[in-house]
Amino acid sequence: MQAYYAVKCEPLPEIVRTLYKAGASFDVASMPEFKIVYENIKNMPAKKRQDWIWDKIIYANPIKPNETLRELDPYKPLVTFDNLEEIKKIKKYAPHAGLALRIRVPNTGAMVELSSKFGAAPGEAVDLILEADKAGLVVEGLSFHVGSQTTNFENFVQAINLSADIFNEARDRGYTKMNLLDLGGGFPAPYDDTVKPFKVLAGRINAELDRLFPGDIEILAEPGRFLIATAGTSVVQINGKAVRDGKVCYYVNDGVYHTYSGIIFDHCHYHLKSFRKGPEQICGVFGPTCDALDVISMSESLPSDLELGDLLYSRNIGAYSHASSTWFNGFPPAKVVHVNRK
Ligand SMILES: Cc1ncc(COP(=O)(O)O)c(C=O)c1O
Repeated sequence: MQAYYAVKCEPLPEIVRTLYKAGASFDVASMPEFKIVYENIKNMPAKKRQDWIWDKIIYANPIKPNETLRELDPYKPLVTFDNLEEIKKIKKYAPHAGLALRIRVPNTGAMVELSSKFGAAPGEAVDLILEADKAGLVVEGLSFHVGSQTTNFENFVQAINLSADIFNEARDRGYTKMNLLDLGGGFPAPYDDTVKPFKVLAGRINAELDRLFPGDIEILAEPGRFLIATAGTSVVQINGKAVRDGKVCYYVNDGVYHTYSGIIFDHCHYHLKSFRKGPEQICGVFGPTCDALDVISMSESLPSDLELGDLLYSRNIGAYSHASSTWFNGFPPAKVVHVNRK
């Protein structure tokens, strides 16, 4: 099995290079992401130079602009698709691409649901594979995404079973070129102790793969959050303090337009802790912009006697956070400091 790190989660070059050295490949969803990976790893040692792009990058956005396909084609990329129009576009603009069909699978209980936006219905999957074949393209295999932060491991079990059914139907209908299954992302980060250990999930996945697929099938996965969430800690400074209706409100120098963007886009809650200890009460914590949406928390247990200049921190904020920072109100994204734990 090969892990293709989902770059969208946090595209910093230092992270791309660190994960490359650790043996990762990459899932990109746009041409700028492709270039971040390509530029950062093109001069690094590779085991199999001739298969470089295929082994190291999958373009896993099922919908691609024509210009992107045209730019990708010389790299002979592996790309996902999930509909007929995309087959026509790939045929016209990236005829040298290899294809993986993204199928729709249950996202039940995932923190971020993705199945209403992407994925061919399992019932139409083989028709699409045969259409791509008729167009002279090669469908290498299937991909799916069970929804991000999936703590319901049945989603993976059902997705693997649906995939096996499609492999069998394709073979029965004469298509034998598929040898790749991409399990997508969704592997949960340990945000709290309700998340079962990864080895429990790995056991379920391996059992289904062993039961349903031949040993020589190529297995990919596109973990994002699981690899990077715990690698990031945000540190914020208190710039203002007010008591409103009896509640202490802290105003800090980072917020939902910046590192805490996951509160809006990722449906994720982050807790704040204080470096300085003291008697705690329920406080509000607000970001630096003038927008009323810029609320980190309306009810965080924090010391009520903190002063301007004191620092708060949030752990496990490495995924879908700094990556979605804006410059709203002129406030820049947070400065990133890389710490080598060796
Ligand atoms: C195609 C694809 N692959 C992988 C990922 C990464 O998912 P996660 O961070 O849940 O592992 C995403 C996230 O949206 C995605 O859209």
